[in-house]
Amino acid sequence: MKKLIFLGFALSFAISNELSFRQIREDIFNIDDKTLITYAKKIRLKAIPSNAYELEELIKNTSPDYEIYPTTTKRIELGKKLYFDPRLSRSGLISCNTCHNLGLGGVDGIAASTGHKWQANPHHLNAPSVYNAVFNPNQFWDGRANHLKEQAKGPIQANVEMAEDSQIVVEKIKSIPEYVNEFKDAFSNDINIDFDLIAATIGIFERTLITPSRYDEFLEGNVNALSFDEKQGLRTFINKGCVLCHYGINVGGAFRGFGFVRYQYVNYGDFNGNENNRVKVPTLRNVARTAPYFHNGSIWSLTEAVESMGRIQLGIELSEQEIKNIISFLKSLSGKLPQIVYPELPPSSDETIRPKLDY
Ligand code: HEC
Ligand code: HEC
Repeated sequence: MKKLIFLGFALSFAISNELSFRQIREDIFNIDDKTLITYAKKIRLKAIPSNAYELEELIKNTSPDYEIYPTTTKRIELGKKLYFDPRLSRSGLISCNTCHNLGLGGVDGIAASTGHKWQANPHHLNAPSVYNAVFNPNQFWDGRANHLKEQAKGPIQANVEMAEDSQIVVEKIKSIPEYVNEFKDAFSNDINIDFDLIAATIGIFERTLITPSRYDEFLEGNVNALSFDEKQGLRTFINKGCVLCHYGINVGGAFRGFGFVRYQYVNYGDFNGNENNRVKVPTLRNVARTAPYFHNGSIWSLTEAVESMGRIQLGIELSEQEIKNIISFLKSLSGKLPQIVYPELPPSSDETIRPKLDY
């Protein structure tokens, strides 16, 4: 019952002046590709802009600290080093890249993320991808952080992740002369290197982790960017109502509500969502690269994930053909990963605090 009320709410949300969502749903298999693009945009599907200026504007809008810290090449390079530097962790072994492996779609590929002292996430939470995270208005499965700078502070200090004290992180960075120089160079000579700035710099690097795909080209008007099967999949995705929750630039990721943490594996881990028991709708960009699925990583197969979504979120049984179509559409969301040259990290000095493995 609760579910129906929410879907009703979503539905009225999607209604535009001239065209109701109901109408779009009914028409979707009888319209040409150009009209499909128009409809898709009406129901809030959005491309990552190919135009560099538009893209930068979008990133500005989704990065509240952009005004204080605009993106520059030097800041990106420094943020990348910090992202890959395991010395930000207590053990000296775990970096952001350990759990958000940029070669693996920005995830770790295991069900419950595992950090310091081989501890699994206590709520059995699966690591979401860092790719395109800049476009998520809410970060984390319960949406508790609003942007990347706030977000980056969490895992460094969390004792099951990188387990390092914020002050010690700052001391470590300050003990490495090349880092100090790079901070001066990237910001200003009198810059105060504190934990906030370190997190912000990592966030600046994360602004570059975006993955435009053929789907974006399609939404921008190139009707041949997607194959027939992929377009059928997009039509099915719209027709069945997946788009009610998975919309916006990240095909999800944008909304805290509308999700129901109810499926056969719901008790895997003790995560109950936010204060209203809702879980963030994850992005579907690169979903073919980011198994296992759902907040607790309980489902490994994309087919099973799609099938369960139909059942759990929409109360429908999808046919085999529909699932196949949807999956070919979802695969078209695997974007072009940015080319990342693995950085050379500056050496520690005699003053650098040594790793603690806590055996
Ligand atoms: C031990 C594994 C681990 C490490 C190390 C780690 N993360 Fe995460 N990350 C996670 C997990 C698990 C979540 C989801 C946690 C939650 O929702 O409460 C997460 C969430 C995120 C998110 C939110 C994405 C979204 O869509 O909600 C971002 C961004 C992120 N991490 C970036 C980073 C950065 C930057 C670092 C390094 C400073 C880092 N992570 C280190 C496991 C890790
Ligand atoms: C009522 C909102 C809603 C609808 C409708 C919906 N989803 Fe979801 N979707 C979610 C939420 C919430 C999650 C995360 C669930 C969790 O982690 O426990 C999710 C997760 C997923 C995932 C796993 C992503 C990941 O990285 O873990 C896939 C794939 C997916 N949905 C596809 C679909 C498809 C295909 C449809 C249509 C058949 C659909 N969804 C309809 C809300 C919805």
